[in-house]
This record gives sequence, C-alpha cells and structure tokens, in this order.
Amino acid sequence: MLTIKNVIFILIVLLKIKCIKCKWKIWEKDLDWWQTSVIYQIYPVSFQDSDGDGKGDLEGIRSRLDYFTETGIKTIWLSPIYTSPKIDNGYDISNFTDVDPIFGTLDDFKSLVKNIKDRGMYILLDFVPNHTSDQHEWFQKSIKRIEPYTDYYIWTDPKQIFPNGTKLPPNNWLSLFGGSAWTYNEERQQFYYHKFTVQQPELNYYNKKVREDMKEVLKFWLDLGVDGFRVDAVRYLTEDPELHDELCFPEFKTCNNEYFKINHNYTEDWPDDYDMVYEWREFLDSYAKCSPYNHTRIMLTEAYTSIDDITLYYGNDTNQGAQLPFNFYLLYADIESNSTVYKYLIDLWFDNMVEGQWADWVTGNHDVTRLATKMGNEIVDGFAMLSMLLPGTAVTYQGDELGQTSSMVRKDQQRDRYNAGDLAIRDPERGPFPWNDSLNGGFSSNKFTWGTVNPSYWEINLETQKKAEKSHYKVYKQLIDLRQKPTIQRGDLNLYIVSTWVLAFTRELSGNESYLTVINFGSEMEFILLGETIPKLPDKLSVAVPSINSDYKDGEIVDTKFSLHIASKPLILRPKASVVLTTDITVVPTTSP
Ligand code: NOJ
Ligand code: MG
Repeated sequence: MLTIKNVIFILIVLLKIKCIKCKWKIWEKDLDWWQTSVIYQIYPVSFQDSDGDGKGDLEGIRSRLDYFTETGIKTIWLSPIYTSPKIDNGYDISNFTDVDPIFGTLDDFKSLVKNIKDRGMYILLDFVPNHTSDQHEWFQKSIKRIEPYTDYYIWTDPKQIFPNGTKLPPNNWLSLFGGSAWTYNEERQQFYYHKFTVQQPELNYYNKKVREDMKEVLKFWLDLGVDGFRVDAVRYLTEDPELHDELCFPEFKTCNNEYFKINHNYTEDWPDDYDMVYEWREFLDSYAKCSPYNHTRIMLTEAYTSIDDITLYYGNDTNQGAQLPFNFYLLYADIESNSTVYKYLIDLWFDNMVEGQWADWVTGNHDVTRLATKMGNEIVDGFAMLSMLLPGTAVTYQGDELGQTSSMVRKDQQRDRYNAGDLAIRDPERGPFPWNDSLNGGFSSNKFTWGTVNPSYWEINLETQKKAEKSHYKVYKQLIDLRQKPTIQRGDLNLYIVSTWVLAFTRELSGNESYLTVINFGSEMEFILLGETIPKLPDKLSVAVPSINSDYKDGEIVDTKFSLHIASKPLILRPKASVVLTTDITVVPTTSP
C-alpha cells in the first residue's frame, strides 16, 4: 500500500539514484593506463609506406614509433590489418588471424609489438565481430552446409518464390550500403543477411560455436601482446530472430525503403548485443588475470546511437562492459553549435555515466569528415582542448593533431563503396599522413598512393609544424603534457556558458593548481570578464596554453574582473580562438616542440 512513509522512502531512493548520476566529481581511485593515455587511431594504409607500393604497412608504423614517444602518445589503435579482399577497406575480413600481405606478415606484427612494448606503449587492434568477408573459409563452408559452419551465418528461406523464379527476401530489412540486407545464394538456395555490403555476411551470435571461435580470435591476438580492442559495429551484432518487418517512423506515412525514415529497431541495438560485449569483457578480464602481464585489457565499442543505448555498453558497474564505449557526441557539433549546445553534449555523457565509469572524447575517425574541414582550421586547438582536458581518455584520429584537412577525391580516385553517387563520402578523410614537404608528404616514394594525398602537404605537415613558432602540433603536445597534472587527471569539472558562443570549463583539485579552458566557438571577437560568470576566480590568471590564433603567449596574465586601471587586461578571444588559463602564475609550462 502507498503510505506516506512508503512515498518518502521511494523519494529518498530516487534522489540517491539521481545523485549517483551526478556530474563529474573528483576521481578518488588509482588511475589505470588507459585512463591517463591518449589513444591514437592509425589508419594503416595511409600512415607510412615502407616498401614503396603506395600503401602504408606495419614496418612503416614501426619506423615512426619515435613520433609517439616524442609526442607523449602511449596507446595506438590500428584499424584492420587482417587478410581482406578490401571491399570495405579491411572491415571485410577473410582471415581473422593473419596479416594482409599489403601490411606485411605476422612476423612484422610481432616485431612492431616488441618495439611498442620496449617503449612502454600499448597497442589496440580493431576487432570486427559482426561480419566476415564472403571469402572467409567459414562462409564458403557455410554455403556448402559443411559442419560445424552450416549455421555460422544468418540464413533463411525466401518468403516466396514466383513462377518466373524470382525470390522474395524474408522481410524488408535494408543494408546501410543500399538495397535489401538479404542476398540470395544460388548454391545454398537461401538468403543470407548483411547490414553492410553484400560481401560482408553477418555472423550468427545465437550459435555458441561462433561465440567460442570469436573468443579464440581475441586470444590469438592477446597472446601476441595486444592490450585491447576497438570493437566494430556492436549495435548490429544480433537481430530479431523472428525477423519482423521494420516500420516507418510515425512521422512518415511512407518511407519508400529510405534508410533513415525507417525505425531499425529489429536490426539495431537489439538487446542481445550488450550480452556479447559483456561476455568479451569477462573473457578479457579472465585472460588478464591468468597472464604474466596482468594489466587490464580494454575494449572500446563503436556504436552511433542514443545515449541510453551507448551507455549500456559500459554495463551496470565498472566490471561488466566496455571500459570505453566511444563517445561520439562531439562529432555531432557543427558550425551552428553555440556554447549551450556544447555544454549539452558534454553534460549528456557525464549525466548518463554511473560512478566509477570513465569518459572518452572522439574528435574524428576514418568514417567522418575531418575536423579541420568540417569545423574550420581555426577551431582545431579548441577541440584538442576539449578532448584532452575534459575528464576522460582523449582519442585522436591520425593527422587531426596537425589540422589535416579532408583530401579532394576525384571519381577515378574513389576507393570506398559507401558513396553518394559520384561523391566520395569517406575517402576524403582517409588520405596519407603528411610527415614533411617531400614527395607525397613523406608518406610513400610511389607516385601513386592508395589514399588521395592532400595537396596541402607542402604547408600542413609535421616537420613544418615542429619548426614553426606556433602550430597545432605544438598545442597538441602541450596539452598532452598538461594531462600529466593531477588536476587534469582527477580534478572536478564545472562547465559555464560565458556567452552565446563562449564556453568555459574549470578543472579543480584541492592542493593543486586549477585550470580554466575558454573556447570561442563564434565568428566574432569576444571580450570576456570571466569573473562575471565563474564564481570564486582569483583576479589574475596565467595563460598555460594559447591556441595558435589567440594572440596570447604562454605565461601572459589576464584579469578576470572589471577594472578601470589602465593596465587591466580582460580576456579577449578572436573568432574560434581558445586558451587554457591556470591559477599557477609562477610556473610557466614548457612549449617544447
Ligand atoms: C565501422 C567502421 O568504422 C566502418 O569503416 C565500416 O565500414 C563498418 N563499421 C563496417 O565494418
Ligand atoms: Mg549482425
């Protein structure tokens, strides 16, 4: 019965739950390697070519490890390096436990891992569990119904066969690459399911044998020294076993098979997806416990979906799911986004994490337009400040630290099948890393490269940015140095909307200096009296990291309050400029290259 006492009790419980879901508060526990590290995504085919074939390779990556050591990057994640016909550039894998010849051999991989370990670094691989290539031995045997592979994939009979032989797929499910998600196989006389290309049949996770085999794949790479995995496409892992048709969203009367007008509730975020991730976490933890190097093996899960669905990948506590479900929310910002939008995007993550979970910040990858192209070169440092200085792990896509822009890809240069007619969608962000101003930006000695070289390499390249007085790279490195500070690693966070376009956030930790980051997302100059919005600020703060367009220097003093004094210097930020300020006025952080 609902008595007053019961109501009060329920209220107290609800308040407590709300409190667990409060904003980021000081992190009390010891930090693990993956929490303090920056995770750097390497797109292997475009990072460094060592043998002159125009395609990046493992030996190329090994030859560039100094770059990470110098910069302070501890963890690299390699996009797929496995044997693949490259229909979806390596996300169609025909052998999960070997290296594709374009990247080298397993021995090259072992030597890369050894070099990484010798430097005290960590390596993550892409794990692509949702589908294999149609060239994979399992699929070839499955077609022939050779046991135990018969039910390794999602096979089903036609819904109907017309007198002229046309076969109707079992339902209306669509592929992300266009058309039906079902393809008929003449030999087996059944349809198989594929959310991605026809050449990427989906594995059947309701088959225990598939689950076991995929754990063997994890084990194979763990035994070679891998420290964790970025897990691909987790929201597509399982589907409704009853194969219900998917319906249009209520706002559309008809949806003519237009992908984004349909509610894909039977093929996306199906509840069993989470159990798979939880099972892999258990596996990784038990592996770590038994291994001589019993450090944590981690998972980053890839799912572009609602915050409720993404945070389910964390699991109910810190031991159940992925340590780092990718936080893609900063990718949803565009040039229209003002400080309220940014605050909303940041709060969203922290409001939905439970105590003990750890955030991460993604600002780019091989599937989205490059940051500098989408948001403009001038805001690159501002985004680096967000990803490096908000509580959590920063994730960098190769080249974004230089403000590399998307390449202009002609029709004859397109590689990817996910395109809009003649328009390349994902090829532009997959261009080679610009090391210097020599041929192909130092990426390859071959005139022709797999990804389209960005002609801007003469100007936007690492070597130039190392030599320049100010550069995105130098800011990036300064920010990595700052991440070593206890305040940035564990301190409290508060966000402030200073004006329509100016966002600020503080990081504070008792007994340590505080940091205040201020970013102008707008296209007008802003005069900012920080003390009017942010409580308890000292009158003066010192610049710890200025963005290159900010007109500030390290150690310069700014006033936080209004004063008529002639020497008073309130903060003035140019359009898209940003600064990190500190209460530590005596120590000027280094600006080492
Ligand atoms: C996500 C990957 O990032 C993307 O490149 C790929 O096409 C799909 N998953 C399918 O594996
Ligand atoms: Mg699937």
